Amino acid sequence: MLSAASAEVVRATLPVVRDHAVEITGVFYPSMFAAHPELLDLFNQGNQASGQQRVALASAVVAFAEHLLDPAAVPFAPVAERIAHKHVSLGIRAEQYPIVGRHLMAAVGTVLGDAVTPEVASAWDEVYWLLACELIAAEARLYERGGVDPVTLWRRWRVAKRQDEAVDAVSFTLVPDDGGPVPDFAPGQYVSVAVDLPHGRRQPRQYTLSQGSARGSLRITVRRVRAHGNAPDGAVSNHLHDHVHADDTLLVGPPAGDNVLAAGTGPVLLVSGGIGITPTAAMLDHIARTDPTRRVVVAHAERRAERHALRAEIDHLASSLAAADVLTWYETGEGERHGLLDVDAVPLPTDLTAHVCGPLPFMRHVRDGLLRRGVPADHIHYEVFGPGMIDRTNGSPA
Ligand SMILES: Cc1cc2nc3c(=O)[nH]c(=O)nc-3n(C[C@H](O)[C@H](O)[C@H](O)COP(=O)(O)OP(=O)(O)OC[C@H]3O[C@@H](n4cnc5c(N)ncnc54)[C@H](O)[C@@H]3O)c2cc1C
Ligand code: HEM
Repeated sequence: MLSAASAEVVRATLPVVRDHAVEITGVFYPSMFAAHPELLDLFNQGNQASGQQRVALASAVVAFAEHLLDPAAVPFAPVAERIAHKHVSLGIRAEQYPIVGRHLMAAVGTVLGDAVTPEVASAWDEVYWLLACELIAAEARLYERGGVDPVTLWRRWRVAKRQDEAVDAVSFTLVPDDGGPVPDFAPGQYVSVAVDLPHGRRQPRQYTLSQGSARGSLRITVRRVRAHGNAPDGAVSNHLHDHVHADDTLLVGPPAGDNVLAAGTGPVLLVSGGIGITPTAAMLDHIARTDPTRRVVVAHAERRAERHALRAEIDHLASSLAAADVLTWYETGEGERHGLLDVDAVPLPTDLTAHVCGPLPFMRHVRDGLLRRGVPADHIHYEVFGPGMIDRTNGSPA
C-alpha cells in the first residue's frame, strides 16, 4: 500500500504524469538501451519502432498508480498477470528491476524537469517499487510452478517437422534438442522464440502453441509479416519462413500466457481472424482429447481462402466432437460466407465463454456484436498478438 504522504503527492501529480507518460517512456527506452545494450536483444525492436511497447509500459504504470489510489475502481490484477506471463516467457529476473527503475525515474526527471521535487520523486519511486514487487512475486510463482530457472530458461529445440499450412503460414513442430522434458501447458499459451538475425542481433517473438499439450512436441504456426507502406518485412517471421528448416534448432522459452481455455465443461465460442486461429487450434485439440462432449462453436474470418491456415485440421477435430459448429468467412473470393464475420449468424449457446483472437479492429467488431447479443463482458476473453492493448478497466480491446 502507498504511504499516506506519497498517496497525496501521487494524486496531485497523476494528471501531469498521465499526460506525459508516453513521452517519459519514450525517453526511458533509448537511455536504458544506451547504458545496457545487451537489453536490445531482449526487447522486441519491432515494438520499439512502432512505439507500442512505450505505450504499454506507460499505460501499465499509470493504471497501477490509479489502482493504488482507488483499488476498487481500477482493478489491476489482470494487467499484472499479463505482464508477469510475458516477462516469464522471456526470463526477466528480479535483479533487472533496479535497472528499469533507475532509468524510468531518470526519464521522469528529464521530461517533467523542476516539477519533480524530492517528494514527487520519492512518491513515484514508491509506486514503481510497489509494482515491481508485485511483478517479481508473480513471476517467482510462475517460475516455481513451471520448474523454470530464469537464468537457464532458453532451451534448444530441434525442428522435427516443417509444414506449409497456407499462403504465408508455416508450422514448426519442435522437440527438445537437450534431452530435457517437453513441458505441459494450457491451450492458449505461447512460447518466446529467439532467433539470431543476419546483422548479429538476437530477437525474441511470441508464438502461440497451435496444438494441445502432451504430444511429445511443441508446435507453432507462423504467419509471414510482409512489408506494407513504409513498414518493412517483419524481422523474425520472415527469418523463420526463409531460413529455418527441418533439423535446424531454435531457442525457445517456457510456455506462458494467462489467456487460456476457460475451465469447466460449459460451452465455448472460439473466434479468430487470420493467424489468430492458432489458439483456436490448440483449444479445439485439447477439447477433442479431454472432453469431446463439450459444446463448441468455431467462427473464423480470413481475407482469402488460400490464407486459411489449419483449416483441414480444425474441421477434422470439430467433426470428432459431439456438438461443434464451424463457420468461416472470407472477405473476398468464393466460400460459404463473404465479407466480414457476421456475429449475428454465429450460434450462441447459453452461458458460453468466448475466446477471441485477431487484429484489434476485428476483436472490437466481435466484442460489440457479442455484447449486443447479450454475452456478458466478463465471458469474453481476448488474446492480442502484440503488447497488451486491451483496456483492462472495461475489458475492451483498446
Ligand atoms: C501472445 C502472442 C502470441 C502470438 N502468436 C502468434 C502466432 O501464433 N502466430 C504468428 O504468426 N504470430 C504470433 N504472434 C505475433 C508474433 O509474435 C510477431 O509479432 C510476428 O511474427 C511479427 O514479428 P516479426 O519479427 O516478423 O515482425 P517485426 O519485425 O516485429 O515487425 C512487426 C511490425 O512492425 C513493423 N515495423 C518493424 N520495424 C519498423 C520500422 N522501423 N518502422 C515502421 N514499422 C516497422 C513491421 O513492418 C511489421 O508490420 C504472437 C504475438 C503475441 C504477443
Ligand atoms: C515495474 C516494472 C515493469 C513494468 C511496469 C513493465 C511493464 C511491461 C509491459 C506492460 C509489457 C508489455 C506486456 C504485454 O505484452 O502485454 C512488458 C513487456 C516486457 N518487459 Fe516489462 N515491465 C517492467 C519491468 C521490466 C524489467 C525489469 C525488464 C527487464 C529488463 C522488462 C522487460 C520486458 C520485456 C523484454 C518485455 C517484452 C517487450 C516487447 O515484446 O516489446 N520489464 N513489460
